[in-house]
Amino acid sequence: MDDTTHSRRALLRFLAASPVLAASGFAQCVLADEAALASAADALDVFEFEAMARKIVPPAHWGYLASGVDGETTLRANSSDYARWQLKPKRFVDVSKMDLGVTLFGTHYKSPVLLCPIGSQRAFHAEGELAVARAARSRDQLQVVSTVMSMPIEAIIQMRGAPVWMQLYTTNRFEATTALVKRAQAAGVPVIAVTVDLPAGRNTETASRLRREDTRTCSNCHQVGPTGNPTGGLATKPMFAGIDTQGLGQTSPSLTWDFIKRLKDITTMKVVIKGIEAREDAELAVQHGADGIMVSNHGGRALESGRGTIASLPEVLQGVAGRIPVMVDGGVRRGTDVYKALALGAAAVGIGRPYVWGLASFGQPGVERVLDIINTELRLAMVGCGARSVAEINAASLIDTRRL
Ligand SMILES: Cc1cc2nc3c(=O)[nH]c(=O)nc-3n(C[C@H](O)[C@H](O)[C@H](O)COP(=O)(O)O)c2cc1C
Repeated sequence: MDDTTHSRRALLRFLAASPVLAASGFAQCVLADEAALASAADALDVFEFEAMARKIVPPAHWGYLASGVDGETTLRANSSDYARWQLKPKRFVDVSKMDLGVTLFGTHYKSPVLLCPIGSQRAFHAEGELAVARAARSRDQLQVVSTVMSMPIEAIIQMRGAPVWMQLYTTNRFEATTALVKRAQAAGVPVIAVTVDLPAGRNTETASRLRREDTRTCSNCHQVGPTGNPTGGLATKPMFAGIDTQGLGQTSPSLTWDFIKRLKDITTMKVVIKGIEAREDAELAVQHGADGIMVSNHGGRALESGRGTIASLPEVLQGVAGRIPVMVDGGVRRGTDVYKALALGAAAVGIGRPYVWGLASFGQPGVERVLDIINTELRLAMVGCGARSVAEINAASLIDTRRL
């Protein structure tokens, strides 16, 4: 370490020790900023991977990953809304044997934490979804791949050694959607998660800003338009091989609930609706034959000025009234967040950006370490609350700070 770096770190450490700045979270930022991880095993929490990934990933790709929409209040609410709930301990429960396993649509997984669909994972690591599949395999956890994945789905499933779920963008042409669905089903996908939260565009301000900073020639990797924005995206994605992408949109502004029936008519896969946040929509989802719901706001990347998903979960559960499983994602950064979502009634809990931070930092071992960290934190929360299995986690161990 040279003298300048040494004195900068000394100053930062001095500032981090200030009680005022510590209360503002500054200390955590500084320590994470200093984290130069030699190996994935060195990471103590997912934020150390975030700090490392931020340094490694080129600005435009980092912007794609980090961005919310507009002023990013929904993005922040996703994490901060977890603070509403505190955990209530339970003593003298024999916690010598713990089981984190869950069963979703008849398949058992070792943890309730699932890997959310994130597009274009080769933008973060050369092995992209394949590295994630190996990590999901070694930890026996559910991987959900995006329609706009950067590797062929058949190769991902082979690497996972078991089926993955696929997320479906509806497109604006039903024959294209049908081709995507048929290919997924033929590849052995048991569950398709149709994303409904982005019908007509969004304003990803951070992504646009960071793209301007990126001095690389992006056209080496993908087509770019005059402003530097990626174009012709779908044609470059493996799921669209053999599909006419001329004029094809990823989503459609004109879709209504009828789409779910049409989808169910062309597939025997279970249909999960991803992006439900309101009780009324939850009731309609059940009425229209959904097999499951993922409460999600696309990681704060769709509607601005919305609630955190953990705040939406209770009313969605009320609308569903136990008829189909309800999962949730958005802002989950700690095992205690997972615990809270399960205690409120979620059947499983998704993480998005955190595992991509691990992927960008170290590939497969990074994703594995992220899963290990969150699973360990979850196990410790279960121990503290006296819940030996996911079935034993319930709302009795939650304190609602709004009602104090
Ligand atoms: C870079 C990025 C790409 C994403 N791509 C997709 C996608 O292709 N399809 C989809 O349904 N959701 C997508 N999402 C949303 C995630 O599936 C998930 O809902 C969200 O990331 C969860 O929030 P978290 O990142 O705070 O954990 C994406 C999110 C990010 C950050």
